[in-house]
Amino acid sequence: MNKQLFLLSALTITLASCGGDKASSNAENNTVKSTEATTTTIDKKAEVENAKKITKAFGGALKAELQKAMKSGGPIKALAVCNKKAMPITAQVAKDQGVQLSRVSLKNRNPANTPNKWQTEVLNDFNKRAAAGEDIAKMGFANIVDNNGKKQLHFMKALPTGKVCLACHGSKITENVKEKLAELYPQDKATGYALGQVRGAIVVVKDLN
Ligand code: HEC
Repeated sequence: MNKQLFLLSALTITLASCGGDKASSNAENNTVKSTEATTTTIDKKAEVENAKKITKAFGGALKAELQKAMKSGGPIKALAVCNKKAMPITAQVAKDQGVQLSRVSLKNRNPANTPNKWQTEVLNDFNKRAAAGEDIAKMGFANIVDNNGKKQLHFMKALPTGKVCLACHGSKITENVKEKLAELYPQDKATGYALGQVRGAIVVVKDLN
């Protein structure tokens, strides 16, 4: 756990220093062309790369936490870990990275992970793309939208249902896991998945100006 958070902090520092470099070269340009100082250009490619890095580090941190718990205490212990740690880890990474971060699914377990309208559209599209044979592990979506005059990055990364996921999201869940799920998530919709389906997605939203 600590190691994972440390890795994420290290990533934050790396990303922050990349941003720092850009800002200083912009500042130089601004002194030359001071009349254009108010115009901000958005580097979509760099923003998307940054969002990709965040989802990768975040997804990796959650998965590592899950695998550690599965190894030490099986799905029941791992369930408790997901239940207690998924949301706080999400909030911490979001704060560190200066973005809004969430996990969503068309069949969500935690009611807090219900997708909004644009996220629902993207998830439906991910399902279509998966059905057409696209690799879910590489599937993503990025768009820059205008939000009340402010530019905002909308980024999503699809999460495939892997073997390890089936213990808690599959169609043959053991009785004790079922009981625990019913207790913790009475509105659970996140079961019945098969290997290789889109389980959900990580969402990054970032204000760009
Ligand atoms: C040990 C049980 C367990 C395993 C294994 C597991 N999950 Fe989950 N999953 C949960 C729990 C519990 C939640 C709800 C966590 C919360 O409260 O945010 C959840 C939530 C999610 C969510 C957020 C959307 C929602 O349904 O609320 C996604 C996406 C997700 N899991 C994907 C996966 C993927 C992908 C795997 C395999 C790599 C996986 N899970 C393996 C228990 C598990």
